[in-house]
Amino acid sequence: MSIAEEVRTSFEVRPVHGDFVGEIVDDGVLRRTDDAIAAEVVAAMDRYAVCVFHNRTPLSDAEHIAFSRRLGTLQRPFTTKIAAMADKRIQFPEIIDVGNLDARGEIQALDDRKRAFNRGNQLWHTDTSFTPVRGVYSLLSAHEVPPCDADTEFADMRAAYDALPDAMKARIEDLETMHSVWYSRVLAGYPDPTAEELQSQPPARHRLVQVHPGSRRKHLYLASHCSEIVGWPVEEGRALLRELMALATPSQFVHRHQWRVGDIVIWDNRCTMHRGVPFDDTSYRRDMRRTTVLEGTA
Ligand code: OGA
Ligand code: MN
Repeated sequence: MSIAEEVRTSFEVRPVHGDFVGEIVDDGVLRRTDDAIAAEVVAAMDRYAVCVFHNRTPLSDAEHIAFSRRLGTLQRPFTTKIAAMADKRIQFPEIIDVGNLDARGEIQALDDRKRAFNRGNQLWHTDTSFTPVRGVYSLLSAHEVPPCDADTEFADMRAAYDALPDAMKARIEDLETMHSVWYSRVLAGYPDPTAEELQSQPPARHRLVQVHPGSRRKHLYLASHCSEIVGWPVEEGRALLRELMALATPSQFVHRHQWRVGDIVIWDNRCTMHRGVPFDDTSYRRDMRRTTVLEGTA
């Protein structure tokens, strides 16, 4: 579809940030079970890389999973296989718990390993870029939100690519990168990963410049997990990755979403980055639940 073309959906999608973020106020869309709905949501996602669905009440975990499954196979969180993070608040294996509550439903203790792990979400990243089969869509559902602004920011990697100088585009066209979840955790202050942790999730290799299969738009594929450029001296690679990160995240490419209970935001991990905005997570409860659809499984 050309980017100028309107998306044909049976629900209204209002642009809230150019062609980057669309908003759907129809409460029933993600609860629909007819055959057309998944293709319509994918069409909206191919135009807008982020879609905000305002639901009057949060979808139940079962509804959240059921809709997500219509988009493909769901990722199972690997952290539950790690002894120090195995305690789960939500028993559905497809739900990834990214709020600040522990297995008893209380605000996590300061030294909770899961809390330290999830702090990595405050760095610009894309979900599950550190596996050979990547995350495509993430669906994040707000069950409880603090009175302060515990927002999420999204950055458009298509617009970021378009705006690069031609010399930079030529320089990076064929580069490949390594992505490791442990690299981003340590950057965010997580303690040195244990042997069990390292073994649970080895790094993966991906192209830095990609073409989005739905929109045919070129985009950067960057993330805090991105640790090296293949074949380059490590520090030189990191310097270029830092430069690209800065070029990709000026305010005109960034949208900040302020959560209301019931919202589900769907983003396309291939062509966006996102990060949680820091808030006082030791005082306020934030219950956020995510599913992530794996690439090539629709
Ligand atoms: C995520 C994530 C950020 C947030 O769920 O993948 O990065 O604001 N969340 O909760
Ligand atoms: Mn994330």
